[in-house]
Amino acid sequence: MPELLATLRAARHIVVMTGAGASAESGIPTFRDALTGLWANFDAASLATPDAFARDPELVWGWYEWRRMMALRAQPNAGHRAIAEMAAKAGRLTLITQNVDDLHERAGCASALHLHGSLHHPRCSACATPHALPPDIPDEPPGGRRLAPPACRACGGPVRPGVVWFGEYLPHAALAAAQAAAADCDVFFSVGTSALVYPAAELPHVARRAGAVVVQVNPGPTDLDAAAHHNLRGRAGEVLPRLVREAWSGADAP
Ligand code: OAD
Repeated sequence: MPELLATLRAARHIVVMTGAGASAESGIPTFRDALTGLWANFDAASLATPDAFARDPELVWGWYEWRRMMALRAQPNAGHRAIAEMAAKAGRLTLITQNVDDLHERAGCASALHLHGSLHHPRCSACATPHALPPDIPDEPPGGRRLAPPACRACGGPVRPGVVWFGEYLPHAALAAAQAAAADCDVFFSVGTSALVYPAAELPHVARRAGAVVVQVNPGPTDLDAAAHHNLRGRAGEVLPRLVREAWSGADAP
């Protein structure tokens, strides 16, 4: 641990990549946790694919609106705030997230590479024109309700959620920037992700091959354990604030 703290203080470029576990303490469900995960309770093939939207747009739009409302009502947690603080202390920090909420930004991170898109940036499914949504709607029942997608103001086509679905490409610019950051950094954090979904799951390996120290923060084991130099077992909201405090407390002192 002292060795990791010294590595952090000396780091030129830190990359932090987060997954659903980073927002779990804000009350947003993860995907693969056994009982509470979204994919334990909902069928991904019926909700998170282009075919599903074409087949039943009201089901898909309603489910994503339910998730958007949940994200809007959630507040950033201590883990999000610790990452923002790390960004302020570190020479350079690139934040990569697989999450579709905006809790990193609301915790004070100036920018995040959203590899899987955003609940807050829907677009037309026909012409890709961005579509602004009202910031809030009334309480949604758990799981959401069927809801007709709004019509695009440019072409009238159905508006779709701004997230990446199974079978779709990741946003090219965000992925290219994430890959470049992983190849350039000297410390790579993988926080709250099962490290199962590619190409995001490849990024810590890119960093390791380029010589970075790989640090994982997760309460349980994942496929990344063997490749991580440090496996910090625990919740992001507990582990990260402690780490930032220990690494940088007094570091500004003359
Ligand atoms: P998963 O649900 O697969 O993994 C969440 C991880 O967070 C698990 O390893 C948990 O052990 C861990 N975890 C739970 N609570 C935590 C906490 N308080 N602090 C730290 N870790 C915690 O979610 P992702 O890895 O993000 O993609 O899933 C990757 C992608 O699969 C998602 O972006 C989504 C999904 O299908 C798309 O929708 C395209």
